[in-house]
Amino acid sequence: MDKARASLETKEYPDSSVQRDHALTLEDWQDKWVTHKIGFHQEEGHRLLKKYLDTFLNGESGLRVFFPLCGKAVEMRWFADLGHHVIGVEISELGIREFFAEQNLSYSEEPITEIPGAKMFKSSSGNLTVYCCDIFDLPRANPGQFDRIWDRGALVAINPRDRQRYAELMLSLTRNGFRYLLAILSYDPTKHPGPPFYVREADVQMLFGTVCNLHFLEKADVFEEQHRRWGIDCLFEKLYLLTEK
Ligand SMILES: C[S@@+](CC[C@H](N)C(=O)[O-])C[C@H]1O[C@@H](n2cnc3c(N)ncnc32)[C@H](O)[C@@H]1O
Repeated sequence: MDKARASLETKEYPDSSVQRDHALTLEDWQDKWVTHKIGFHQEEGHRLLKKYLDTFLNGESGLRVFFPLCGKAVEMRWFADLGHHVIGVEISELGIREFFAEQNLSYSEEPITEIPGAKMFKSSSGNLTVYCCDIFDLPRANPGQFDRIWDRGALVAINPRDRQRYAELMLSLTRNGFRYLLAILSYDPTKHPGPPFYVREADVQMLFGTVCNLHFLEKADVFEEQHRRWGIDCLFEKLYLLTEK
């Protein structure tokens, strides 16, 4: 077993079932935006995404890059600036408006007729679109297929009981030759109910393993002082590249 593999496995907590029934509603998430409880947002963007950008893009251009549960992730801008087509989904309209305002991007908005109450926000450059809707409603808007998926703060934010449905949705949206970069979090799930929820490598294997090969890329210590109020004293992020079998 290689060193990276060994260090990955020593830190798995045996049981994530304690969080199984914990669930947030869409309103809970929208409230987080209204009350600025968005400690998940990273103004500088994600360090490991930067590091593995070439692995993720694999030298291809003009890709359709999907950001499920995108929040106001600044990395959407990175890909748009590289000339790719970026598509995000976020339930909070406030979060989406903050994204465009903070990135200084002009945009237009229009209702999504297939989904009552939903809207689509499109940059004036035309290559960055954010759907404002529940991710599970997205297929009704026919968003097309994606070449790349950046999943950070997404699988770990989905209610555990909806994970299977989420994984099936993600795989249904991929195009041949896709690359799916997935960041999951590891901490003692008996100490904090989530979100973010604890996801084990075994869960990733169960959710995606029949269709994808899992490549473990890196494990990073991401513990910060703000996490002490979750009752934990260590927090690791693990990055995987999922490719088509
Ligand atoms: C943990 S945050 C992560 C945001 C972003 N991926 C990042 O890395 O900063 C999860 C986001 O998903 C949104 N969200 C939660 N459930 C959703 C759903 N079912 N459909 C669409 N957006 C959702 C929340 O409003 C929140 O902005």
